[in-house]
Amino acid sequence: MIQRIVYFPSLRKLLLRAGSNSASSKIGTNNCFASQPSPLRSHSDDEYADVDWDSLGFGLMTTDYMYITKCCEGQNFGQGQLSRYGNIELSPSAGVLNYGQGLFEGTKAYRKENGGLLLFRPEENAIRMKIGAERMCMASPSIDNFVDALKQTVLANKRWVPPPGKGSLYLRPLLLGTGPVLGLAPAPQYTFLIFASPVRNYFKEGSAPLNLYVEENFDRASSRGTGNVKTISNYAPVLMAQIQAKKRGFSDVLYLDSATKKNLEEVSSCNIFIAKGKCISTPATNGTILSGITRKSVIEIARDHGYQVLLSYIYVATT
Ligand SMILES: Cc1ncc(COP(=O)(O)O)c(C=O)c1O
Repeated sequence: MIQRIVYFPSLRKLLLRAGSNSASSKIGTNNCFASQPSPLRSHSDDEYADVDWDSLGFGLMTTDYMYITKCCEGQNFGQGQLSRYGNIELSPSAGVLNYGQGLFEGTKAYRKENGGLLLFRPEENAIRMKIGAERMCMASPSIDNFVDALKQTVLANKRWVPPPGKGSLYLRPLLLGTGPVLGLAPAPQYTFLIFASPVRNYFKEGSAPLNLYVEENFDRASSRGTGNVKTISNYAPVLMAQIQAKKRGFSDVLYLDSATKKNLEEVSSCNIFIAKGKCISTPATNGTILSGITRKSVIEIARDHGYQVLLSYIYVATT
């Protein structure tokens, strides 16, 4: 059956405002263009890309540069390189193509009023990728490598960071098993890549409430599966439910736990909070839910603001 649940993206806005004071990292001032070979063109610091910032949504808008580095199984990733954004070459037998050995992350860079750039808790994404890589038997970049790579990518694409208040530069780190395999096994080589795209609101509703379809026929994750890691293989399976929900006029899908179909888990690509007065509840991360960095930050900030935050099962009464 269909139930309407209202979700307020404005909570995330509150978080981002708070995050820009407390939890974000300042991007260093090193200019990464200096050491790059000639095909990389430098842009002046105050130059903006030719974008209509007022009509940004969440579509892919390719930017100038991407970051890429590779390593063999059992070794460590070294310093990578910036290159022009473009296609990458893959063996047809790459682990990621055949067995889905891949992880992704998503984080954002913001431009401040004074022109400085902010990343939102990038080390949290680095840690999550590391944990995911262990689960997926992949080599992964160190926390420092990951954060440094993000900073380089932002600086190289600085002109694509929207003006303050007009959005952010979305950063998409990818960790892929790119070495060739035939039998089911970890790939012998891994690629860590970051590309970027300026974005604004993820949902077309903007900061208006969303209608979520409570899904009873499809599960997003199962107990002891990979719901708690950001593997690429968790996402294509939710497309069918998402398409159906959109056809029915809903913004997205809210999943229930696969074992009992009685408890809220999360939306296709975000965590959920239920707020009542000064009490906020969110499902505990028990292995099936992605431990969102927004979720973690909302919990911290809400507690700081005197809210009671419950990490518990959230029972849904169905008729
Ligand atoms: C399934 C899922 N849950 C939650 C989130 C939110 O994670 P974060 O707050 O770290 O962006 C995402 C992010 O894409 C996600 O894909």
